[in-house]
Amino acid sequence: MCGIFGIINDKKNQAAQTVLEGLKKLEYRGYDSWGVSIIPQGKQEILVEKHIGKIGNAQTNLPSGLIALGHTRWATHGGVTDRNAHPHLDCDKKIAVIHNGIVENYQEIKAELLEKGHQFVSETDTEVIAHQIEEKSKSKKINEAIFETFKLLRGSNAIAVLDFDSQTVIACRNGSPLVVGLGLAQFFLASDVPAFLKETNKVYFLNDGEAVVLSNSGVKLYDIDSEKEKILIPQVLDWRLEDAEKSGYPHFLLKEIYEQLKTIPKTTSINEKEIKELAKKIKLGYKVVLTGCGTASYCALTTKYFFAEQGIDTAAIPSYEFMPFAKFVDKKTLVFAISQSGETADTLIAVKEAKKRGAEIVAVINARGSTLERLADTVLSVGAGPEIAVVSTKAFTSQLSTLYLLATAVTDRYEEGKNKINKLGEVLRDWLNPVLINRLIDTAKNLMDEEHMYLIGKHLNYPATLEFALKIKETSYIHAEPFAAGELKHGVITLIQKETPCFVLASKDEIKEEVLSSAAEIKARGGFIIGIAPFESNEFDVLIKTPDLGNLTIFANIIVGQLLGYYLGVGRGADPDKPRNLAKSVTVK
Ligand code: AGP
Repeated sequence: MCGIFGIINDKKNQAAQTVLEGLKKLEYRGYDSWGVSIIPQGKQEILVEKHIGKIGNAQTNLPSGLIALGHTRWATHGGVTDRNAHPHLDCDKKIAVIHNGIVENYQEIKAELLEKGHQFVSETDTEVIAHQIEEKSKSKKINEAIFETFKLLRGSNAIAVLDFDSQTVIACRNGSPLVVGLGLAQFFLASDVPAFLKETNKVYFLNDGEAVVLSNSGVKLYDIDSEKEKILIPQVLDWRLEDAEKSGYPHFLLKEIYEQLKTIPKTTSINEKEIKELAKKIKLGYKVVLTGCGTASYCALTTKYFFAEQGIDTAAIPSYEFMPFAKFVDKKTLVFAISQSGETADTLIAVKEAKKRGAEIVAVINARGSTLERLADTVLSVGAGPEIAVVSTKAFTSQLSTLYLLATAVTDRYEEGKNKINKLGEVLRDWLNPVLINRLIDTAKNLMDEEHMYLIGKHLNYPATLEFALKIKETSYIHAEPFAAGELKHGVITLIQKETPCFVLASKDEIKEEVLSSAAEIKARGGFIIGIAPFESNEFDVLIKTPDLGNLTIFANIIVGQLLGYYLGVGRGADPDKPRNLAKSVTVK
């Protein structure tokens, strides 16, 4: 939540413009407001420009300069106003601060600073950081003042400070992500790599308790507690510039949906060693617990069904409901923490608790250098590349495919699993053609004005309905409610009226007839049935035909939900890349 981007030594001497462009790549992290601060050439104070709303195609009139720092905000403390937008300044306008996280004790700090005469202009927790640094820098060097201020802050936070006097950008991390980019004489600080990927893929991901000082001579790494310098060992990422660009697609979401044609089969060429090692442990009797939030929790539940097919019992627990069950986790438990970002607060809390109880943590992640990656004993990095759209698509299918491979490895059928996933990639490529897209667009047009939709599915297609419905809700804001088909007659059926749209997700399997009976019950009450399945049926008023891929049919069924969500969202005027009120990684409880 919240995007941070700063630069030192901007090669065009237009640091504010560069920061603004980089922030546009981070807007998925928060889009309540944005702001940029700069050390302008020939001026005696920091200048700031900030506005509420999305960055979109914003331009800035800030003057030229070599050093700037900016932010996109997902509001926590203080409403969405220009004043509450970051950066925040100290009284002398020599220190600008941006922040990702929540300062839990900001009221106490603010009270002390008010007594000392500091003037506050916003209602944010962040502004106290600027004034506290100002106060401490009266008697200390700026680095020390910042490190000591940071140590005072309670909660999970990352801060970045633009300091006029030392002409540096200084940042500290505890719980919220920060990464340094080392370019050719230009140095970057960001909350995620896409902000500077155009300039460099040589990076350093900060650990909790570390700080960096960016100056025109380079980047220095510090341990915040001891305030001592450490050796910074950068890594080179295999990410390409196109990964952070729309590459001709109107939205990142659509691009990422199509990228699944490559990212799903890619999972068969990575993680084999780790998957086989984990399979051995499961065969030795380790318990399997799957956890995550939102889409990742649906991935956990789907995986539970995949494991059940292989005769293995597992638990799938949404991370925000993990605590009552934590006591069942022990040294012989593998906890699979599923997360695109690896920074989701609820997931990290569950993982820390499981770790305390001796469980082995397996991170099933997409983004690199995250907190979860560091906490894990084993990392299954699913390799889908940067996922920029807030709504998760390709990370989900890569996580699911990776965990499917694991389930097959446990019964020594890994090669078979691999072939099936590769086949899935080929079949999806043929299926995702213009005829299908036109059919989806027509279906979306017919559903555009609906406010309520229902979905049913059974067994593997039940978690598929959860994910399908989430895509519709997130992208189009239509109320889409998923149910297990069996649940229908126990109450839900009261919601069905004449023409109520109902999606029926099915595969060609032994329970297909049962699902069709549920569809018939809806139809008998006037419901309008949209079948998402690899077969025709009289119960369907409309069919979006998916390929018959056995138990992997759900991949295609879910992709229909991703695409329908996209076309409904676009049709209803929503921004499919940045749905209202959401942030890509939810780093608060
Ligand atoms: C997905 O479309 C959502 N925006 C959301 O549910 C997301 O999956 C959830 O917040 C978990 O994020 P993570 O995978 O980064 O942990």
